[in-house]
Amino acid sequence: MARLAGRSAVVTGGARGIGEGIVRRYVAEGASCVIADIDVEAGERLAAELGDATVFIRTDVTSESDIVAAIDACVSRFGSLDIMVNNAGIVGVTGPIGDTALEDYDRTMAVLLTSVFLGTKHAMRVMKGQGGGAIINTSSTAGVQGGLGPHVYSTAKHGVIGLSKSVAVEAAPLGIRVNVLCPGATLSSLTAGLVAGGKDDLDAAYERLSSKYPGGRAPRPEDMANAAVFLGGDEGQFMNGAVLVMDAGKEVLSDRAAKFYPLD
Ligand SMILES: NC(=O)c1ccc[n+]([C@@H]2O[C@H](COP(=O)([O-])OP(=O)(O)OC[C@H]3O[C@@H](n4cnc5c(N)ncnc54)[C@H](O)[C@@H]3O)[C@@H](O)[C@H]2O)c1
Repeated sequence: MARLAGRSAVVTGGARGIGEGIVRRYVAEGASCVIADIDVEAGERLAAELGDATVFIRTDVTSESDIVAAIDACVSRFGSLDIMVNNAGIVGVTGPIGDTALEDYDRTMAVLLTSVFLGTKHAMRVMKGQGGGAIINTSSTAGVQGGLGPHVYSTAKHGVIGLSKSVAVEAAPLGIRVNVLCPGATLSSLTAGLVAGGKDDLDAAYERLSSKYPGGRAPRPEDMANAAVFLGGDEGQFMNGAVLVMDAGKEVLSDRAAKFYPLD
């Protein structure tokens, strides 16, 4: 039995990586999806492959009118907006805080945090009229702990959690749930750009990432999609304002307990 049968979703950053994994899984679970991304080639290719259950809408998540257009497309094409996945992201500016230019800070925050504000704001408006819905905002392990990402990335990802928890309070009486997904290092073009030769070097990236995980297997986008199915569907109906960390305990949990008991 499909777990998202008859549901409609907007997935930002849905053309690649974790977002693509969520779109593929949502469609397999019976949902229809708007793939909202700036990558026209990858987005159109994915929509052509998945067929009538998807539509690609070129969306820059830093633009309020683009976000509104993606949500409107979901309602007009598929009849409702049941799930909003605010997932698009970049690494953004890196380097010491003293060398971080204000315009780079602003640009990174726009893609990683203002986008989530816009997606949450307009999804809430539509879902309120419908009497319910689920919003899933992608943060990161870098959103719950310092030192796992660049300064501005970490700032924005902490902000995604703060925004989501705050809005979850307003959303609850409206039948709307707002939850956060915090992936640990997951195979995607984003991580390949960081740990391998470049964003298309997925094999090398997978090998490098896997060496850090128990069992020697790094998560792939489809592993994060499992959580997005749960949070977006009926099985997650008692989840609201929750922060779901998906890192196999490798990034957020401390290993200092090794002085009290063996950790091999
Ligand atoms: N991969 C990881 O290890 C990891 C870990 C923690 C959090 N995350 C978060 O997961 C999310 C997805 O990352 P990913 O690893 O799949 O990266 P990815 O680079 O594979 O995919 C990101 C997608 O977002 C799109 N995008 C970028 N800027 C955009 C914009 N302005 N408007 C619309 N779309 C835009 C890209 O075109 C791409 O399709 C991000 O928010 C990222 O911060 C990833």
